[in-house]
Amino acid sequence: MTLRVGIIGAGPSGMAQLRAFESARKNGADIPSIMCFEKQDDWGGQWNSSWRTGLDAYGEPVHTSMYRHLWSNGPKECLEFSDYSFDEHFGQAFSSFPPRAVLFDYIKGRVEKSDVRKYVQFNTVARHTSYNPATEEFTLTVEDLTTGTTAEHVFDKLVVSTGHFAFPAVPEFEGINSFPGDLLHAHDFRGAERFAGKNLLMIGSSYSAEDIGMQAHKMGAASVTFSYRTAPMGFDWPENTVERSLVTHFEGRTAHFLDGTKGEFDAVVLCTGYQHKYPFLPSDLSLKSKNVLYPGNLYKGVVWQQNTNLFYLGAQDQYYTFNMFDAQAWFARDVMTGKIELPSQQAREADIQLWLERLAALPDHNAEADFQSDYLRELIDATDYPPFDLDAVSQLFKDWMGHKESDILGYRDMVHRSVVTGTMATKHHTRWLNAMDDSLDRYLNGPSQDVDTGTLATVTEELSTK
Ligand SMILES: Cc1cc2nc3c(=O)[nH]c(=O)nc-3n(C[C@H](O)[C@H](O)[C@H](O)COP(=O)(O)OP(=O)(O)OC[C@H]3O[C@@H](n4cnc5c(N)ncnc54)[C@H](O)[C@@H]3O)c2cc1C
Ligand SMILES: NC(=O)c1ccc[n+]([C@@H]2O[C@H](COP(=O)([O-])OP(=O)(O)OC[C@H]3O[C@@H](n4cnc5c(N)ncnc54)[C@H](OP(=O)(O)O)[C@@H]3O)[C@@H](O)[C@H]2O)c1
Repeated sequence: MTLRVGIIGAGPSGMAQLRAFESARKNGADIPSIMCFEKQDDWGGQWNSSWRTGLDAYGEPVHTSMYRHLWSNGPKECLEFSDYSFDEHFGQAFSSFPPRAVLFDYIKGRVEKSDVRKYVQFNTVARHTSYNPATEEFTLTVEDLTTGTTAEHVFDKLVVSTGHFAFPAVPEFEGINSFPGDLLHAHDFRGAERFAGKNLLMIGSSYSAEDIGMQAHKMGAASVTFSYRTAPMGFDWPENTVERSLVTHFEGRTAHFLDGTKGEFDAVVLCTGYQHKYPFLPSDLSLKSKNVLYPGNLYKGVVWQQNTNLFYLGAQDQYYTFNMFDAQAWFARDVMTGKIELPSQQAREADIQLWLERLAALPDHNAEADFQSDYLRELIDATDYPPFDLDAVSQLFKDWMGHKESDILGYRDMVHRSVVTGTMATKHHTRWLNAMDDSLDRYLNGPSQDVDTGTLATVTEELSTK
């Protein structure tokens, strides 16, 4: 009987799984019967952004945490597909840190050319899963959100690719209940224009805090204060930007910090991360993890230890993104089809433990990048995913982190070389700080397209670059 594969979620990870099977088919292999379920009306996951917050039109939790003016926060050369380059998709060189719409276009382009959309049922949410150990079958209940109709599907293999940056982690702070200003989690942030002239407090010290804080600075916030729990980010911040220790409590608009200082704020953004949450899975199949580079219980970061018919993609914290999801999807495909034979449960556990020990000993961010490069290397070596120079990408990550250290507002103006094609990125026509139009057209075609939407600074800079 043909193997039946169910894929939950058509974000970059689910799209990678579809592409992995398509690639095998093109190479002459018989591929399983595939069904993919996506609760939104299009694929792209986080990149398919929305103005909505809270619940969507069907009353489902809004998935995306992305926002207007979101530009790639890492060099695009670090996430490039090795089987579908930026050159192939766009036919022109451009800068290293494109805005969301450009990367969305890129990931869609690859799968649109692969004719895999036919496998995806959109507006269809996974509701419930059960597993029968006797028959080794999953029964997945899904709901068509447009009709409210539920259906059951039976699969031999199940791929969970629903992401882990959609359910906010929201801590409690004494007195926050009566904070009178704007109060939101980063998941519900859609643009920093509202913070112009405001004194803003960001709780958290990772990518969301940094990027939303600098968005607010770009859009004219009066001041930005970061509050950290474990360690400050330590960048050379622009004027009116400071880092404080953790908030102990609020009194009206005043936040008190652990170091005894205090400040008055108009708005608070909780950049406190996300929960791994899989409400459609029973607890014994559901990954419980923090946002770490190697979640436990997944062999090679992909195969569920106690049930090797279950696969997770993209469950780790991410230096690499799109190309890592590819490496995982190719690996998962070959395990599913039996091309890769799994070792015993004990050997798998020993392998997981080795990675976890190595993770625990990582001294710094540079070592973290190398760690994830080594992880990809193992996956790619095991499959026919086109290899690329992982050491070179590790170096790109280190260069990028160095650029952030020296200029937190300017690192996106730096350019990097593709390890897939050798193409050097070109300097963007507008510095990130002055770029006020994040559309694909403006990005690719230049400032002359729609200068009317730019600020005075943008227009001035754009005119001076002509
Ligand atoms: C604010 C933010 C900014 C980011 N910026 C960058 C960046 O600049 N560069 C970068 O490389 N990465 C960035 N990332 C990382 C991002 O997570 C990855 O690029 C990528 O989107 C992860 O892909 P995924 O498919 O694993 O998950 P997601 O993109 O989250 O996709 C999961 C999909 O599953 C669907 N789904 C969820 N639950 C169900 C269900 N029950 N039934 C059916 N479908 C379901 C969702 O609708 C979604 O389409 C960012 C993440 C966030 C949150
Ligand atoms: N393209 C972009 O520009 C962009 C922008 C935003 C986000 N992103 C992406 O989005 C993903 C998620 O990033 P993220 O920053 O939201 O999550 P994250 O990296 O998981 O960081 C969570 C942060 O919340 C803090 N935190 C958690 N609980 C807390 C508490 N109770 N009190 C105080 N602080 C607490 C953590 O502090 P500790 O250090 O103490 O744990 C950490 O600083 C990343 O992949 C990132 O790359 C990208």
